Amino acid sequence: MTTALITGATAGIGAAFARRLAKDGRDLVLVARDADRLADTAAELTKKYGVEVEVLPADLATDAGIGAVEERLRDGARPVDILINNAGFGNKGSFLTVPLDQELDMLKVHVEAILRTTTAALPGMRERGFGGVVNVASVAAFLPRGTYGASKAWVVSFTQGVARDLGGTGVRLMALAPGFTRTEFHQRAGMGTSNVPAWGWLSAERVVDEALRDLAKGRSLSIPGKRYKAVVAVARLLPSGKLGGVSAKAARTYE
Ligand SMILES: NC(=O)c1ccc[n+]([C@@H]2O[C@H](COP(=O)([O-])OP(=O)(O)OC[C@H]3O[C@@H](n4cnc5c(N)ncnc54)[C@H](OP(=O)(O)O)[C@@H]3O)[C@@H](O)[C@H]2O)c1
Repeated sequence: MTTALITGATAGIGAAFARRLAKDGRDLVLVARDADRLADTAAELTKKYGVEVEVLPADLATDAGIGAVEERLRDGARPVDILINNAGFGNKGSFLTVPLDQELDMLKVHVEAILRTTTAALPGMRERGFGGVVNVASVAAFLPRGTYGASKAWVVSFTQGVARDLGGTGVRLMALAPGFTRTEFHQRAGMGTSNVPAWGWLSAERVVDEALRDLAKGRSLSIPGKRYKAVVAVARLLPSGKLGGVSAKAARTYE
C-alpha cells in the first residue's frame, strides 16, 4: 500500500486527485486550511474506498503550516510515496491593484511551500528508490501574466530541473500545467470567466487522468488536452513581448 499526500485536497483538482488515488487503493494525507471540510472529505473517501485517510489542517501561506507538512513528509513511520503539491489561488486584479501582502502570500504558497515540501519528501523517496512528486503549475507559466504566471513558471522550471537531477534514482518529478479547469478557483478569486470559450474548459477529472498517465510514462511536464498542448507550443515560438498582449486579452476578467 502506498501513501499520497495532497495539498489543496478539499476542492477542484486536489479533490479529484484525492478521489482518483483513493480509488486506486492509496492511503492519503490531505492538507488544506478548512479543518471541517478536510474531515468531511476524509470520511467520505474512507467510506467509499476503504483507504486510510489522515487530515493535516495547514495554511501554506505561513511558516507553521509549511513546517507541519515538512514534518509529516520527513516522518518515516508511514512514508509518503506520492506528493501532489496542488494548493494554489489567484488574485483578482492587475499588478498594483493587488495588495503586496496577497502577492507575497501567493509566492509563499506557489513557490516556498513547493520548494520546502519537495525538499522534505525527496531524500526518503530516493533512499527507497521509489516515489513521485507532481507540482501543479498552469498554462499561465508560458504566458507573461504578473505574479501568478511568474510563480507558475518557477514551478515548471524548478520541477523539470530537479527531475533531471534525480534521473536514474527511481523518483519521478512532474510539473502539471492545466488550462482553464472547472473548480472553485475563479469564484474564490472573484474573477469573471465569461470570455473563456467553451472549448477552453477542462474537467478536474480529465486533468488528473492525463497527469497520472504522463507521470507513469516518466514525463517531467504534463499539459492536459490537445488544444492546450498546441497553445503552449505556439507560445514557446512567439517573442515574449507579443505574448504579454495575447495573455492579457485571452485571460480572465475582473468584473
Ligand atoms: N482552475 C483552473 O483553471 C486552474 C488552471 C491552471 C492551474 N490551476 C492550479 O491548480 C491548483 C488547484 O486549483 P483549483 O482550481 O483546484 O482551485 P480550488 O478549487 O479553489 O481549490 C484550491 C484548494 O487549495 C486549498 N488552498 C488554497 N489556499 C491554501 C493555503 N494557503 N493553504 C493550504 N491550502 C490552500 C483550498 O482549501 P482551503 O481553502 O480549505 O485551504 C482548496 O482545497 C492551483 O495551484 C491552481 O493555481 C488551476
